[in-house]
Amino acid sequence: MSFPSERLRRLRRTPILRALVCETTLEPSDLVLPLFVRPGKGVKRPIKSMPGHFQCSIDQALKAAASAAAVGVRAVILFGIPDKKDSRASGAYARDGIVQRAAGALKSRFPDLAVIADLCFCEYMDHGHCGVVKGGEILNDATLELTAKTAVSQAEAGCDMIAPSGMMDGQVAAIRKALDGSGLGMTAILAYAAKYASAFYGPFREAAESPPRFGDRASYQMDPSNLREALREVGLDIQEGADIVMVKPALAYLDVLRRVKDAFRVPCAAYSVSGEYSMIKAGADKGWIDERKVAMEALLCIKRAGADLIITYHAVDAARWLHEKK
Ligand code: PBG
Repeated sequence: MSFPSERLRRLRRTPILRALVCETTLEPSDLVLPLFVRPGKGVKRPIKSMPGHFQCSIDQALKAAASAAAVGVRAVILFGIPDKKDSRASGAYARDGIVQRAAGALKSRFPDLAVIADLCFCEYMDHGHCGVVKGGEILNDATLELTAKTAVSQAEAGCDMIAPSGMMDGQVAAIRKALDGSGLGMTAILAYAAKYASAFYGPFREAAESPPRFGDRASYQMDPSNLREALREVGLDIQEGADIVMVKPALAYLDVLRRVKDAFRVPCAAYSVSGEYSMIKAGADKGWIDERKVAMEALLCIKRAGADLIITYHAVDAARWLHEKK
């Protein structure tokens, strides 16, 4: 069959015909909301480069989680901003660390909420790198000891999932072993498996107060040129025990996401990062693009490319827009 008998426009003629053959749908339950938590009470500091997002104290984070749940977003990922940073990232694995306390408070108020803890040290290290530094180098295996401790303390605090984002070799294995050895065998791992050294993280570093003081992250995060290597990273993380694998950033890396999805049989996450959000916000603020339409199209296309779940700063707005559409 071919033109003129074959006409793809036949099924585009009316909204219901289009809906019947629609291949990809987005649901609020696909979305994960990032929350930045810091010590204090009643604190809600706007993040300039990410309008609509705040560094929140725990009481305010509880409110944010309640608003998210009200529109069907029932998963959050926590980033902590400690009062003090040091060269051992001690705030990351302190029993009363900010993420541990926030997770405890969230889980006791909202037992059904999925609480994911980002596990990284850049926010907790005085030098802003994601691992232990010695002589200007970021040490891999010394970092893994801290990774294991941090995972156990986050899981003990009630987190449902641990999400290591430091790109240290062997981090997933170190976490799985530590969790299983501590009777935390049911805590899942969402691995930032293919995390690229990306300039799209710019606004996040203001949000999390985590820019590196020297150098960059190219010795541990991936080179944006590489796709084959992403498949190796993902394969290793699955072997090491990852329950979900993530590609990050999302929009500029949809080819990676699709390849990962086709090559492996595990759930895939995509992280639509701070720069992706801020660009949409800035363009909309100038009146150059329609925020709602662009954001929803981007999320839909991330799903089409293979994401089962999406971490996005548009989570709550998107969920609200999805409800309005119905
Ligand atoms: C921590 C971390 C970063 C992001 C998530 N976890 C920053 C970085 O690697 O520099 C970026 C998230 C975003 O830009 O939204 N390592």
